[in-house]
Amino acid sequence: RASKPQSPDLLAWYDRHRRSLPWRAEAGEVPDPYRVWLSEIMLQQTTVTAVKPFYLRFLERFPTVAALAEAPVDAVMQAWAGLGYYSRARNLHACAKAVVDKHAGAFPATEAELLALPGIGAYTAAAVAAIAFHEPAAAVDGNVERVVSRLFTVEEPLPKAKPLLRTLTLEMVPLDRPGDFAQALMDLGATICTPKRPACALCPWMAPCEARAQGSQELYPKKQKK
Ligand code: ADE
Repeated sequence: RASKPQSPDLLAWYDRHRRSLPWRAEAGEVPDPYRVWLSEIMLQQTTVTAVKPFYLRFLERFPTVAALAEAPVDAVMQAWAGLGYYSRARNLHACAKAVVDKHAGAFPATEAELLALPGIGAYTAAAVAAIAFHEPAAAVDGNVERVVSRLFTVEEPLPKAKPLLRTLTLEMVPLDRPGDFAQALMDLGATICTPKRPACALCPWMAPCEARAQGSQELYPKKQKK
């Protein structure tokens, strides 16, 4: 392979192509952990385009984690209507209550403490820690699994490859911009390193990508045969 994937190359691409999204802090703004958390929960099983209007309406109705915790669960379910996967809304409310009751209304800043909250799994804990608190955490979702398995031609199939993919991702996290790195990887997976016909010519990691060198991009990530 030509070189190792360098996070500055990805960040330079992100700085040029970064999508402006309502939950993203603009340059110079401090990210609000509540907004980051809310958006990550909504984005788990729903596309960016579908989430946008729901996110904005939800935030108007429940502008803070305290407002969400105080609301009756039925009001939360109602505001969630249309997004689907309603267990997410129930967990959302339980998590808001836990933040208020156990953390005095402020989201905890570490991946481990976030993971202990209701409805927060490995991906969400890492995403909130990196984006809202600048912790060096690896937020690995399906898009990131695809990018990283292609970069390193990971032969082990999913789901067994998950720990390896996490380790490979974590090793690339730049300590100065972990949140931007997490979102850059998500954007790369969503817009360039797509499942079919990835746009490799536009990719900041074309040179170091092992799958690209072999022309085998679409074979990754390998999946366990059922
Ligand atoms: N998908 C999941 N989290 C995201 C984020 N923060 N930005 C864009 N897409 C995402």
